[in-house]
Amino acid sequence: MVIVLDFTIAEKEIKDMISHSQHPEILHNVVDFLYDNFDNYSWVGIYIVKENYLILGPWRGKQATEHTKIPIGQGICGSAVKSCKTEVVDDVSEDGRYLSCFISTRSEIVVPIKKEGIVIGEIDIDSDVSKAFNKSDVTFLEKVADMLTEHI
Ligand code: SME
Repeated sequence: MVIVLDFTIAEKEIKDMISHSQHPEILHNVVDFLYDNFDNYSWVGIYIVKENYLILGPWRGKQATEHTKIPIGQGICGSAVKSCKTEVVDDVSEDGRYLSCFISTRSEIVVPIKKEGIVIGEIDIDSDVSKAFNKSDVTFLEKVADMLTEHI
């Protein structure tokens, strides 16, 4: 069965969930929600910026990643901190920046969580499907990232 929740409904449910939960469960709950409701989201994690590194916070997926501490500037994740923009990689095998975590990953999206224009964290999602992330995913996940600004 393919689970793909409507983005508008998902946005509202996440907003409600955040307003009814306490830090630090909020980050865990959002990761769980994204992982449980979107089939193409094969691995979902939140990284937090600490000094010159991204440190892995809550995550859900079939496997743990070895990349729990990524220097700013390295990988797709580190690049998104530098560019301050959402990075969408349709085919990870064709992106030289890609830090491999899982052999099943085909595409990836990294969405910065910003506070006053500065990246303080990221939502990182790997998919086992190539070109899994379209404009609607980008818009939705950027809204989710904005909702997390005060909870990092
Ligand atoms: N692929 C990421 C590393 C993190 S894992 O996907 C969980 C990157 O290139 O930065």
